[in-house]
Amino acid sequence: MSLVRFSGLTVSVMEKGNEKLLLDGISLEISEFSIVSLVGGSGSGKTTAGLALLRLLPVGLTIKRGEITYKDENLLKASSKRIQQIRGKEISMVFQEPLYAFNPVFSIGSQINEVLELHTSYSKEKRKERIWELLDMVGIKDPKRVANNYPHQLSGGMRQRAMIAQAIATNPKLIIADEPTSNLDVTLQAKIMKLFVKLKEELKLSILLISHDLGVVENISDKVVVMYEGKIVEAGDTASVFNEPKAEYTQRLLEVSKFK
Ligand SMILES: Nc1ncnc2c1ncn2[C@@H]1O[C@H](COP(=O)(O)OP(=O)(O)OP(=O)(O)O)[C@@H](O)[C@H]1O
Ligand SMILES: [Mg+2]
Repeated sequence: MSLVRFSGLTVSVMEKGNEKLLLDGISLEISEFSIVSLVGGSGSGKTTAGLALLRLLPVGLTIKRGEITYKDENLLKASSKRIQQIRGKEISMVFQEPLYAFNPVFSIGSQINEVLELHTSYSKEKRKERIWELLDMVGIKDPKRVANNYPHQLSGGMRQRAMIAQAIATNPKLIIADEPTSNLDVTLQAKIMKLFVKLKEELKLSILLISHDLGVVENISDKVVVMYEGKIVEAGDTASVFNEPKAEYTQRLLEVSKFK
C-alpha cells in the first residue's frame, strides 16, 4: 500500500527577479514498510523534498504545483493543526548532525520525554521506562546512564542513535532521514544503516533515506530515486538501478561511489 505520494511537485524561489525551480515536477511513491532512498548531488533538491513533505519549507520557497498525499490525505491542503499532529507523531525526521537537533542544556532522556508528553498519555513512570526501552532498541548499551547524559557527552554515533530513538518514540509510520550518517565514519555508517533495516522490520515503518552517496544506501534500500537539478532522472528497484542504470547521471554517481 502507498503511504506517501508526491505527484508533480514543483517548488520555486525568486532569485534576483527570476523564478528558479528547486523541484521541477517530481513524482515518487513510498510504500508501507519500505526504505526509499533519495540520492543526488549537492543542491539537487533532496532536502527541499523532505521539508516539503513535512510542510517545513523555508520562507521564500513556494509550492507552485503538485500534490503530496499521506495515506490519501492531501498534505498541502491539511490544516496547520493536522500538520502538527502528523509531524512528530506519524512522520518524524532525523538530521545529519544531532548536536544541532538536540538542545544542549537538556539531557537526552528529558528531550525524548518531551516528545512522549506531547504525543502520548503515558504516566511519568511509563514514560521513563519507554525512554529506556527506546534507547535499548537503537542499540545503546547502557540506556539508564545515557538517558541522563547531555548531547555533548555522547559520541557522534551514540548521538545519532539517540536521535533515532527520539524519532521512533511515537511509533511513526515514516522517518525522513536526511544524510543521517554523513558525519560518521564508514563502520558506524554501516551500523546505523543496519539499524534502519531492523527498525523497519520490527516497527513496520517506512524510511525516506536522503543521501548523496549511492554506495551507502545500496544494501538497505527497496527503491532508489535519483535526483539531478530538481528533477528525478531515474527511479526503480534498487537492483535494477544498480545493475542497469539508465540515466547517465546515475552511471556517474555509481562510478563515484565505487572509488570511495
Ligand atoms: N531558503 C532557500 N532560498 C533559496 N534557495 C534555496 C533555499 N533552500 C534551498 N535552496 C536552493 O535549492 C536547491 C536545492 O537545495 P537542497 O538543500 O534541497 O539540496 P540537497 O539536494 O539537499 O543538497 P545537499 O546534498 O547539499 O544537502 C539548491 O540550489 C539551494 O541553493
Ligand atoms: Mg540536503
